[in-house]
Amino acid sequence: MTAEPLIRFRGVGKTYPKTDLPVLEDINLEVQEGSLVAIIGPSGCGKSTLLNLLAGLTEVTSGSIELARADLTSAYVFQGPRLLPWRKVQANVEFSLEQIGIGAAERRERARAALELVHLEEHGDKYPHQLSGGMQQRVALARGLALEPTLLLMDEPFGALDALTRGYLQEELLQIVRRNATTTMLVTHDIDEALLLADQVVVMSSRPARIRAVFDVPFGRERDFDQTIADPAFVPLRHEIRSLLRPELAASDSTIGAQIASAEDSS
Ligand SMILES: Nc1ncnc2c1ncn2[C@@H]1O[C@H](COP(=O)(O)OP(=O)(O)OP(=O)(O)O)[C@@H](O)[C@H]1O
Ligand SMILES: [Mg+2]
Repeated sequence: MTAEPLIRFRGVGKTYPKTDLPVLEDINLEVQEGSLVAIIGPSGCGKSTLLNLLAGLTEVTSGSIELARADLTSAYVFQGPRLLPWRKVQANVEFSLEQIGIGAAERRERARAALELVHLEEHGDKYPHQLSGGMQQRVALARGLALEPTLLLMDEPFGALDALTRGYLQEELLQIVRRNATTTMLVTHDIDEALLLADQVVVMSSRPARIRAVFDVPFGRERDFDQTIADPAFVPLRHEIRSLLRPELAASDSTIGAQIASAEDSS
């Protein structure tokens, strides 16, 4: 891909106020329009910070983030559901649509369709506390998808889900973002998830995080997951990413070490 990137991080650094150690250092990254980029790295290295910078929730300390288009609409599926506890599920999904001025009838319809995508159409009338953690996370996903954004930021959206639901939603997500040509940045701690979904996988180092490597994922844009996993290139790529992450684990107080180790045990 040689087109002008939609998003360009140029030498981005981030140090939070009243702290000494930078979180991000000299991040240079180009994201092509319509592509799905997965960010993977040790816990606490600054992945959420990277998305927060892009979402404008916090400011860069150095460098810049350039957007090629001013008309981007974005949705952010946060790490953790962050639902409004006093609103029912359907009303939670409608909330983001209210914020952008969508009328009541269309709001209802779009929220209902988004809940159907995450298989929660039967639960629209419940309050968040009446749902399991995984179900709440799916509501948060529906809230993001209902916006039909041109830029979708997702921070470990499938982390709290059981394996079956995760697999189903990963396939669903991929179809949606392809169909709508949504540019997507997905933070994940799951190497397989990154390889199944992404066009590019960005591997970060521990804090202060730099980009260690960017992998182009060679499985094409329309993917059958079973075929992708069976592709001869899959295991070597997984191995390479894992070996890049391994030295980083010692430097983080992370759960990712255990997760990678157990993924390795089972593979
Ligand atoms: N508002 C803040 N003020 C000060 N330090 C912060 C703030 N937000 C995050 N940090 C610190 O910045 C570092 C990166 O945090 P961040 O949440 O971006 O990491 P992460 O890679 O998303 O971690 P995880 O994998 O656990 O979600 C951490 O050391 C964290 O404690
Ligand atoms: Mg995070």
